[in-house]
Amino acid sequence: MLTDVYTSLQLLLRWIHVFAGIIWVGHLYFFNFVNVPFQAVLSADMKKVVNPQLLGRAFWWFRWTAMVTFIAGFLLFTMLYMYTPGVGFGPSDLWRTADGMTGRAMWISLGMLLGFGMWANVWFVIWPAQKKILTAVRDGQPVDPALPKRALKVSRANAYLSGPMLFGMLAPNHFGGFDIVSAIVAIALGLVAIWWAIGQSSSAGTDIATPPSAKT
Ligand code: HEM
Repeated sequence: MLTDVYTSLQLLLRWIHVFAGIIWVGHLYFFNFVNVPFQAVLSADMKKVVNPQLLGRAFWWFRWTAMVTFIAGFLLFTMLYMYTPGVGFGPSDLWRTADGMTGRAMWISLGMLLGFGMWANVWFVIWPAQKKILTAVRDGQPVDPALPKRALKVSRANAYLSGPMLFGMLAPNHFGGFDIVSAIVAIALGLVAIWWAIGQSSSAGTDIATPPSAKT
Protein backbone atom coordinates (compact mmCIF):
# COMPACT_ATOMS: atom_id res chain seq x y z
CA MET A 1 0.00 0.00 0.00
CA LEU A 2 2.77 2.39 1.00
CA THR A 3 4.69 1.45 -2.16
CA ASP A 4 1.56 2.09 -4.25
CA VAL A 5 1.23 5.61 -2.88
CA TYR A 6 4.94 6.16 -3.47
CA THR A 7 4.74 4.91 -7.07
CA SER A 8 1.60 6.95 -7.77
CA LEU A 9 3.28 10.07 -6.43
CA GLN A 10 6.22 9.43 -8.74
CA LEU A 11 3.90 9.11 -11.73
CA LEU A 12 2.19 12.37 -10.80
CA LEU A 13 5.55 14.13 -10.44
CA ARG A 14 6.73 12.62 -13.72
CA TRP A 15 3.61 13.92 -15.45
CA ILE A 16 4.01 17.42 -13.96
CA HIS A 17 7.70 17.36 -14.93
CA VAL A 18 7.06 16.43 -18.55
CA PHE A 19 3.97 18.69 -18.86
CA ALA A 20 5.95 21.72 -17.67
CA GLY A 21 9.01 20.62 -19.68
CA ILE A 22 6.95 20.58 -22.89
CA ILE A 23 5.72 24.14 -22.28
CA TRP A 24 9.21 25.36 -21.34
CA VAL A 25 11.10 23.79 -24.23
CA GLY A 26 8.20 24.51 -26.63
CA HIS A 27 8.65 28.20 -25.90
CA LEU A 28 12.43 27.87 -26.21
CA TYR A 29 11.91 26.47 -29.72
CA PHE A 30 9.34 29.15 -30.54
CA PHE A 31 11.91 31.80 -29.58
CA ASN A 32 14.72 30.16 -31.56
CA PHE A 33 12.93 28.80 -34.61
CA VAL A 34 10.13 31.38 -35.06
CA ASN A 35 10.75 34.57 -33.15
CA VAL A 36 14.39 35.23 -34.10
CA PRO A 37 13.65 35.41 -37.87
CA PHE A 38 10.30 37.13 -37.19
CA GLN A 39 11.96 40.00 -35.28
CA ALA A 40 14.11 40.74 -38.33
CA VAL A 41 11.02 41.83 -40.33
CA LEU A 42 9.51 44.06 -37.61
CA SER A 43 10.05 47.84 -37.58
CA ALA A 44 10.85 49.63 -34.30
CA ASP A 45 7.24 50.89 -34.11
CA MET A 46 5.85 47.41 -34.61
CA LYS A 47 8.22 46.01 -31.98
CA LYS A 48 6.93 48.54 -29.49
CA VAL A 49 3.37 47.30 -29.95
CA VAL A 50 3.99 43.60 -30.49
CA ASN A 51 6.91 42.61 -28.27
CA PRO A 52 5.84 43.65 -24.76
CA GLN A 53 2.43 42.05 -25.39
CA LEU A 54 3.52 38.87 -27.15
CA LEU A 55 6.93 38.21 -25.62
CA GLY A 56 5.93 39.37 -22.15
CA ARG A 57 3.36 36.57 -22.12
CA ALA A 58 5.66 34.02 -23.73
CA PHE A 59 8.46 34.71 -21.25
CA TRP A 60 6.07 34.24 -18.32
CA TRP A 61 5.24 30.69 -19.45
CA PHE A 62 8.89 30.09 -20.34
CA ARG A 63 10.46 31.01 -17.02
CA TRP A 64 7.81 29.63 -14.68
CA THR A 65 7.52 26.29 -16.44
CA ALA A 66 11.34 26.09 -16.34
CA MET A 67 11.01 26.44 -12.56
CA VAL A 68 8.27 23.81 -12.28
CA THR A 69 10.21 21.39 -14.51
CA PHE A 70 13.29 21.82 -12.36
CA ILE A 71 11.51 21.43 -9.00
CA ALA A 72 9.49 18.39 -10.13
CA GLY A 73 12.67 16.88 -11.67
CA PHE A 74 14.62 17.42 -8.48
CA LEU A 75 11.87 15.81 -6.37
CA LEU A 76 11.65 12.91 -8.79
CA PHE A 77 15.41 12.47 -8.60
CA THR A 78 15.29 12.41 -4.80
CA MET A 79 12.42 9.90 -4.74
CA LEU A 80 14.02 7.57 -7.27
CA TYR A 81 17.70 7.78 -6.59
CA MET A 82 18.19 9.19 -3.10
CA TYR A 83 15.45 7.51 -1.04
CA THR A 84 14.30 3.93 -0.46
CA PRO A 85 10.89 3.37 1.17
CA GLY A 86 11.35 1.58 4.46
CA VAL A 87 15.07 2.34 4.49
CA GLY A 88 15.36 6.10 4.27
CA PHE A 89 17.51 8.71 2.57
CA GLY A 90 20.75 7.74 0.85
CA PRO A 91 21.75 6.47 -2.63
CA SER A 92 19.16 3.87 -3.70
CA ASP A 93 19.67 0.69 -5.75
CA LEU A 94 18.83 2.72 -8.87
CA TRP A 95 21.83 4.96 -8.15
CA ARG A 96 24.41 2.31 -7.37
CA THR A 97 24.90 -1.43 -7.00
CA ALA A 98 27.87 -3.42 -5.67
CA ASP A 99 29.47 -2.83 -9.12
CA GLY A 100 29.29 0.96 -8.72
CA MET A 101 27.13 3.67 -10.29
CA THR A 102 24.36 2.29 -12.54
CA GLY A 103 23.98 3.14 -16.22
CA ARG A 104 20.58 4.65 -15.42
CA ALA A 105 22.20 7.00 -12.91
CA MET A 106 24.84 8.03 -15.45
CA TRP A 107 22.25 8.87 -18.08
CA ILE A 108 20.12 10.93 -15.72
CA SER A 109 23.23 12.69 -14.39
CA LEU A 110 24.04 13.79 -17.95
CA GLY A 111 20.43 14.90 -18.52
CA MET A 112 20.19 16.75 -15.22
CA LEU A 113 23.52 18.50 -15.69
CA LEU A 114 22.34 19.88 -19.03
CA GLY A 115 18.80 20.60 -17.74
CA PHE A 116 20.16 22.43 -14.72
CA GLY A 117 22.44 24.53 -16.94
CA MET A 118 19.45 25.44 -19.10
CA TRP A 119 17.37 26.38 -16.06
CA ALA A 120 20.17 28.62 -14.72
CA ASN A 121 20.52 30.28 -18.14
CA VAL A 122 16.79 31.06 -18.18
CA TRP A 123 16.70 32.57 -14.71
CA PHE A 124 20.08 34.27 -14.50
CA VAL A 125 20.78 35.40 -18.08
CA ILE A 126 17.90 35.20 -20.58
CA TRP A 127 15.03 36.52 -18.48
CA PRO A 128 16.98 39.36 -16.75
CA ALA A 129 18.20 40.52 -20.19
CA GLN A 130 14.78 40.19 -21.85
CA LYS A 131 13.04 41.99 -19.02
CA LYS A 132 15.29 45.00 -19.56
CA ILE A 133 14.90 44.81 -23.34
CA LEU A 134 11.09 44.58 -23.27
CA THR A 135 10.77 47.37 -20.70
CA ALA A 136 13.01 49.67 -22.77
CA VAL A 137 11.07 48.84 -25.97
CA ARG A 138 7.75 49.51 -24.22
CA ASP A 139 9.01 52.90 -22.96
CA GLY A 140 10.62 53.88 -26.28
CA GLN A 141 14.06 53.94 -24.58
CA PRO A 142 17.29 52.86 -26.29
CA VAL A 143 18.26 49.23 -25.64
CA ASP A 144 21.82 48.47 -24.54
CA PRO A 145 23.07 46.61 -27.67
CA ALA A 146 24.95 44.08 -25.51
CA LEU A 147 21.67 42.76 -24.06
CA PRO A 148 20.01 41.26 -27.18
CA LYS A 149 23.36 39.75 -28.19
CA ARG A 150 23.83 38.08 -24.81
CA ALA A 151 20.21 36.88 -24.69
CA LEU A 152 20.42 35.42 -28.21
CA LYS A 153 23.74 33.66 -27.57
CA VAL A 154 22.50 32.02 -24.38
CA SER A 155 19.10 31.17 -25.87
CA ARG A 156 20.89 29.47 -28.78
CA ALA A 157 23.09 27.63 -26.28
CA ASN A 158 19.96 26.41 -24.46
CA ALA A 159 18.43 25.23 -27.73
CA TYR A 160 21.59 23.22 -28.46
CA LEU A 161 21.75 21.82 -24.91
CA SER A 162 18.12 20.69 -25.11
CA GLY A 163 18.80 18.06 -27.81
CA PRO A 164 21.31 15.98 -25.80
CA MET A 165 19.43 16.82 -22.56
CA LEU A 166 16.34 15.03 -23.85
CA PHE A 167 18.36 11.87 -24.54
CA GLY A 168 19.64 12.12 -20.96
CA MET A 169 16.02 12.25 -19.73
CA LEU A 170 14.71 9.39 -21.89
CA ALA A 171 17.60 6.92 -21.77
CA PRO A 172 17.45 6.08 -18.02
CA ASN A 173 14.06 4.39 -18.44
CA HIS A 174 14.04 3.43 -22.09
CA PHE A 175 17.57 2.48 -23.08
CA GLY A 176 19.49 0.68 -20.39
CA GLY A 177 23.23 0.70 -19.78
CA PHE A 178 25.46 3.71 -20.25
CA ASP A 179 28.46 3.48 -22.54
CA ILE A 180 30.59 6.20 -23.97
CA VAL A 181 29.80 5.49 -27.64
CA SER A 182 26.03 5.67 -27.03
CA ALA A 183 26.49 8.88 -25.07
CA ILE A 184 28.55 10.48 -27.88
CA VAL A 185 26.00 9.38 -30.50
CA ALA A 186 23.13 10.75 -28.37
CA ILE A 187 24.90 14.09 -27.87
CA ALA A 188 25.77 14.33 -31.58
CA LEU A 189 22.21 13.48 -32.71
CA GLY A 190 20.74 16.01 -30.30
CA LEU A 191 23.07 18.76 -31.52
CA VAL A 192 22.52 17.96 -35.21
CA ALA A 193 18.72 18.05 -34.78
CA ILE A 194 18.88 21.56 -33.31
CA TRP A 195 21.45 22.73 -35.87
CA TRP A 196 19.13 21.47 -38.63
CA ALA A 197 16.07 23.23 -37.14
CA ILE A 198 17.94 26.54 -36.72
CA GLY A 199 19.17 26.20 -40.31
CA GLN A 200 15.56 25.85 -41.52
CA SER A 201 14.23 28.66 -39.40
CA SER A 202 14.89 31.68 -41.63
CA SER A 203 12.81 30.25 -44.51
CA ALA A 204 10.47 27.65 -42.95
CA GLY A 205 6.81 28.69 -43.20
CA THR A 206 7.46 31.92 -45.10
CA ASP A 207 5.68 30.84 -48.29
CA ILE A 208 2.45 32.63 -47.35
CA ALA A 209 4.15 35.85 -46.16
CA THR A 210 6.52 35.86 -49.11
CA PRO A 211 4.88 34.13 -52.12
CA PRO A 212 7.14 33.19 -55.08
CA SER A 213 5.83 36.18 -57.06
CA ALA A 214 7.16 38.59 -54.40
CA LYS A 215 10.65 37.06 -54.41
CA THR A 216 13.28 38.78 -56.55
C1 HEM B 1 15.79 21.14 -15.10
C2 HEM B 1 16.42 20.07 -14.68
C3 HEM B 1 15.85 18.69 -14.78
C4 HEM B 1 15.94 17.72 -13.83
C5 HEM B 1 16.61 17.87 -12.45
C6 HEM B 1 15.27 16.55 -14.33
C7 HEM B 1 15.13 15.33 -13.66
C8 HEM B 1 14.53 14.19 -14.17
C9 HEM B 1 14.47 12.91 -13.49
C10 HEM B 1 15.07 12.61 -12.12
C11 HEM B 1 13.80 12.04 -14.31
C12 HEM B 1 13.48 10.57 -14.01
C13 HEM B 1 14.52 9.67 -14.65
C14 HEM B 1 14.30 8.21 -14.36
O1 HEM B 1 13.16 7.72 -14.49
O2 HEM B 1 15.28 7.53 -14.03
C15 HEM B 1 13.45 12.77 -15.49
C16 HEM B 1 12.75 12.23 -16.57
C17 HEM B 1 12.32 12.95 -17.66
N1 HEM B 1 12.51 14.28 -17.88
FE1 HEM B 1 13.66 15.54 -16.74
N2 HEM B 1 14.77 16.82 -15.58
C18 HEM B 1 15.09 18.12 -15.91
C19 HEM B 1 14.74 18.78 -17.08
C20 HEM B 1 13.90 18.29 -18.06
C21 HEM B 1 13.45 19.03 -19.23
C22 HEM B 1 13.81 20.47 -19.57
C23 HEM B 1 12.67 18.22 -19.94
C24 HEM B 1 11.99 18.62 -21.24
C25 HEM B 1 10.88 18.20 -21.66
C26 HEM B 1 12.60 16.94 -19.25
C27 HEM B 1 11.89 15.84 -19.68
C28 HEM B 1 11.91 14.60 -19.09
C29 HEM B 1 11.32 13.41 -19.68
C30 HEM B 1 10.56 13.33 -20.99
C31 HEM B 1 11.58 12.37 -18.78
C32 HEM B 1 11.27 10.89 -18.98
C33 HEM B 1 9.97 10.45 -18.38
C34 HEM B 1 9.87 8.94 -18.53
O3 HEM B 1 10.56 8.31 -19.33
O4 HEM B 1 9.07 8.37 -17.82
N3 HEM B 1 13.37 17.03 -18.12
N4 HEM B 1 13.88 14.07 -15.39
